[in-house]
Formats: sequence, structure tokens, C-alpha cells
Amino acid sequence: MAVTNHQDAGTDGVPGGPGLERGPARPGADAARGEGCAQNIFWHHGHVSGNSRERYFGHGPATLWLTGLSGAGKSTIAYEVEKMLLHHRMPSFVLDGDNLRHHLNGDLGFSAQDRRENIRRAAEVARLMNEAGLIVIAALISPLREDRAMASAIIGQPSFIEVHVSTRTEVCEARDPKGLYAKARAGKIAEFTGISAPYEAPLQPALALDTGTMPIEQAASVLFAHLTCHLA
Ligand code: ADX
Repeated sequence: MAVTNHQDAGTDGVPGGPGLERGPARPGADAARGEGCAQNIFWHHGHVSGNSRERYFGHGPATLWLTGLSGAGKSTIAYEVEKMLLHHRMPSFVLDGDNLRHHLNGDLGFSAQDRRENIRRAAEVARLMNEAGLIVIAALISPLREDRAMASAIIGQPSFIEVHVSTRTEVCEARDPKGLYAKARAGKIAEFTGISAPYEAPLQPALALDTGTMPIEQAASVLFAHLTCHLA
């Protein structure tokens, strides 16, 4: 197995010596992580290429990045599409914002800085899952364009597909499935997206799905069709 040193470039295959190159550079994505502190680490190249995985699975990877307000229907669409993909024997996995915040991102709150870190970690996990050949459906509010651009840089093109679940605030608030809008209005939750924190709609999403005007099953079918076209 070939080994690559992130710090010391060399050429003979032993740490610090010749044969070692830097790990794959990811312009725009590595910068998002800030100043790295890792030293003396090495990149290990495996024997299974992305193309081999693609042949094995019968399709390439992708990340459907679902952005929208709380209560817009992101998770419901995501789990519906996951079911459809598995039915078609296409390995997939949902990265749900609420779920990730139970464990991996359990140390993060809802300040702009914490949301950015939440999105960065989710995007890094999505990237790894894509590298493993999976189709990822990420469902996170991800309210700021800049943070979604970071996710796009981490995941890379053509894998990253931005999908706006564009259900209007009034519809989400009327649904209020978790009672959070009522709490936010009562001042019991600070920085609640759409009420006391901003949401920046994507300017050019690959797809927009409004579950206020479209049943969830239809939204999921449209998304599934978009994905299969993208992968073809
Ligand atoms: S994100 O903004 O950082 O992308 P994420 O998708 O992970 O958010 O989590 C959103 C979920 O956290 C919401 O669906 C809701 O259940 C819960 N939540 C708790 N506090 C807030 C808040 N202040 N703003 C938005 N969602 C919140």
C-alpha cells in the first residue's frame, strides 16, 4: 500500500524519504477547516479505485444536499428517497441534521459558527460516504449560502447536488411538527431559523421542491428522477 505524507514530500516510499507526496489537495475545502494542527501524518492509498466501486455498484456516488427551513419536509423527503434507492438496490444513507446533532455534532449549538462547523462535519462525512460509493442524502437547514458553498467545495463536483426544499415559512410554522416555532415566537429558543436567524435561499439550486404545494411522495419521486438522470 502506498503511503503519502501530508507534511514531508519524498520519493522512496519510507516516511520522510523519497516516494512520499502530499495528500490530495482540496482547494476551497481544506481552507474551510481553518489552520490544521495535524503533523507527521501519512496518506495511505488503497487498492480499490473509485472506478472499481462505480462498476461494482453500477453507478457513481452523489450527495443530494437538501436545504430548507425546519418543518419544510427535508427529512421526510430524504427518508422517502432513501427507501426508493434501496428498493432499486442503490446503496444510500441519510445524514439528517437533527440526528447528527445527537452524537457526532452533539457539542454544537446554533450560533453561526457552530452551524458552520455542523455543516463542515456533515459534508466531510458525506464526502467519505461518496468515496465509499454511496449515495448520500443530507438534510440540514444549512441556512447560509457561504456554508453551503463550503459543503459543495468539500464534497466536490459533480457529486454535490443542491436541492432547495422551498416550503414557505408560514407553511412550516403552521405545521410546527416539533413545537419549535411556537417556542421561538415565545422567545424560548434563540436564533431560530426563519424567525430570529436568517435563511438564505439558494440562488441556483439544481432542484426546488415545495412540500406546501406538492405531496411528499411526489417530491421524492421528482428528486429520485433527477438523481437517476444525473447518474446516467
Ligand atoms: S443547521 O442550521 O446547523 O444546518 P440542523 O439541520 O443541523 O441546522 O438542525 C436543525 C434542527 O435543529 C431543526 O430541525 C430543529 O429540530 C432543531 N433546532 C433547535 N434549535 C434550532 C434553532 N435555533 N434553529 C433551527 N433549528 C433548531
